[in-house]
Amino acid sequence: MKITKICCIGAGYVGGPTMAVIAQKCPHIEVTVVDLNEQRIKDWNDPNTENIPIYEPGLSEIVAEARGRNLFFSTDVEKAIDEAQVIFISVNTPTKTFGKGKGMVADLKYIELCARQIAKVAKENKIVVEKSTLPVRTAEAIKSILDNTGNGVQFQILSNPEFLAEGTAVTDLLNPDRILIGGDTTPEGEDAISALVDVYANWVEKDKILTTNVWSSELSKLTANAFLAQRISSINAMSELCEKTGANVNEVAKAIGMDSRIGPKFLKASVGFGGSCFQKDILNLVYIAKSYGLNEVADYWEQVIIMNDHQKRRFSNKIVQTLYNTVADKKITFLGWAFKKDTNDTRESATIYVADDLINEQANISVYDPKVSQSKMLSDLDYLQTRSSEDNSKALTVFGDPYEACKGAHAISILTEWDEFATYDWQKIYDSMHKPAFLFDGRNILEAKELEAIGFVYKGIGS
Ligand code: NAD
Ligand code: UGA
Repeated sequence: MKITKICCIGAGYVGGPTMAVIAQKCPHIEVTVVDLNEQRIKDWNDPNTENIPIYEPGLSEIVAEARGRNLFFSTDVEKAIDEAQVIFISVNTPTKTFGKGKGMVADLKYIELCARQIAKVAKENKIVVEKSTLPVRTAEAIKSILDNTGNGVQFQILSNPEFLAEGTAVTDLLNPDRILIGGDTTPEGEDAISALVDVYANWVEKDKILTTNVWSSELSKLTANAFLAQRISSINAMSELCEKTGANVNEVAKAIGMDSRIGPKFLKASVGFGGSCFQKDILNLVYIAKSYGLNEVADYWEQVIIMNDHQKRRFSNKIVQTLYNTVADKKITFLGWAFKKDTNDTRESATIYVADDLINEQANISVYDPKVSQSKMLSDLDYLQTRSSEDNSKALTVFGDPYEACKGAHAISILTEWDEFATYDWQKIYDSMHKPAFLFDGRNILEAKELEAIGFVYKGIGS
């Protein structure tokens, strides 16, 4: 089968960039991205592509090239499903907040809604692709809904998890380490796999396109995120030991990373990993292991989350302890709110938890982030339900200029590794602060010696 029309349900951080790149690389394929969120679709259609709802380096240029040619954003979900041969499901799969598996298992209500809608609308055979990250064996549930509520047409379910990281989504999509496609081992399943392989082969070398059975593909995605997060918790665990022993975690990371079996990537100690997926996917893995009675497997992976929570709390405790055990009424400036640089995404950002802890200690928090809006920061805090929105608004002041944000501060805390922070005039910032001027570098991006020479009391992670 030659694919000429694709529909993607979900115009979020995955659906938007992924489909934009498919459209750019496959001008012969019409790609329609649909979403229930009208504002989101309106923003994707903003005549000025600088205003699209997701900030990713290089993305607005790709959208400018393909949008209106073979890339479309729409709220007409049924029409797009009806016309497409392939439907990607790229909706959110957050951790369930109620009932059985609360706080652990992925909430699949959005996935089920998509399956039901596809079943209702489809009048011809379709390939349905799981792009969202899903628990292993979800394809079984999707197939059951499609087969039992559909109009008698045939569906092939493929698993094609996405491995892009935010902030580098465009380069990750253009040059992926691999594309993973899982499908049935029947002739129809193999045909569906090969149709999707052909789409990616427009720009990805064939030997990087890996095909497996559906369950391996679903589980590989959870496994990849678990391994990545585990590396961060491992180095963060070492950072605490470094602080006690006089070792320096950057030096330790470099030393171990030069072992080609370990490798240098993903060994940056930090205030803790954030983002919408690592925690959610590991909790999901833990739940799946427990549901099969594999308690040791579950405990092993849960420790990655326990360590991450500890690291975030340890960071805020350190600020309080260093500031003579009280931050009440002190101005603490946060540089960065996003969960990593080059994104406006704040989901599960460690910053939110550090802010919450310090507001509990009655600190006044000032924030500067180049891409995150004040309303987003406040809604992140409100989401925790620790205190009223009014109290959150009183405790948090947001600045559009970093020098203004730092003026009169008792301490500065770096929470996102935005490159611009390293280019600031730190002498000027020091001169404008309360003394002693404390600097807590939660990302180890600044040079300790230079800042100490200016007069800062500098505290990095793991040294
Ligand atoms: P997101 O919240 O940014 O986007 C999901 C979109 O789906 C939302 O705009 C929502 O309105 C829409 N939606 C939900 N139900 C719908 C329905 N029934 N019909 C139409 N639209 C609907 O989420 P995301 O970050 O893009 O993540 C999507 C999935 O991809 C998740 O499973 C996630 O784990 C996975 N993933 C995310 C990333 C990432 O970097 N964010 C990377 C790889 C995989
Ligand atoms: C991660 C994975 O890297 C992607 O492969 C995956 O597709 C995605 O999750 C997903 O499934 O959602 P992402 O969360 O966007 O991507 O960003 P990462 O670069 O992995 O960073 C995650 C968090 O870990 C950030 O808070 C980052 O600052 C932190 N981190 C990362 C560290 O603290 N140290 C490191 O060495 C690396």
